[in-house]
Amino acid sequence: MKKIQVITLFPEMFDGVLNSSMMWKAQNEGAVEFSLINLREFGIGPRKQVDDTPYGGGNGMLLKPEPLFAAVEAAKAVDPSAQVVLMTPRGQRWKQSLAQDWSENEHGLIFICGRYEGYDERIVSLVDQQVSVGDYVLTGGELPAMTVIDSIVRLLPGVLGGETSAAIESFSDGETLEFPQYTKPAEFRGMSVPDVLLSGHHGEIAKWRAEQSKKAE
Ligand code: ADE
Repeated sequence: MKKIQVITLFPEMFDGVLNSSMMWKAQNEGAVEFSLINLREFGIGPRKQVDDTPYGGGNGMLLKPEPLFAAVEAAKAVDPSAQVVLMTPRGQRWKQSLAQDWSENEHGLIFICGRYEGYDERIVSLVDQQVSVGDYVLTGGELPAMTVIDSIVRLLPGVLGGETSAAIESFSDGETLEFPQYTKPAEFRGMSVPDVLLSGHHGEIAKWRAEQSKKAE
């Protein structure tokens, strides 16, 4: 069972994603266990403060170190060997081969979702990996964390319906994309399914699919 803990100021953002479809099925089948940790609970003082102004001046507020350290320590107490992952646009670019590795290894994961204009740099000392989902900036690490979690969990043994589906699909070999597919009806609004797919010739179909498995520009 893969244990995934997420530290966030907005745990409710995860409800729909983790409790629907494949992520819900994965939990139900005992392949994964999610737990959401509300950073606010580790905030300081009666107002549960989690952010503050930057030293040296500048706009915006930064996540303070004390609540994040306390939250990570609480998560580590539950799962001492877990890897701590910080979602940040400065991180290593996420890719399918990493999803594969992380779904296969034993250790649990603790995701830290950054928010606001940034975080106190000292939190990096807590972190094993920094991950980005692409060269663009989102308002927080929640959507990136959901993306990374989905890509890992669907590869856990028993989660994806047909065990071979993950192996033949886009990016699994690092290069080719999934070929175009069609279902019934064979003719729809003047658009036909390619003849080769209706031919029943498995060799020809495999050749056509290989030709079609190219990257979009
Ligand atoms: N937080 C904000 N933008 C992000 C990105 N592109 N990847 C990961 N975390 C982020």
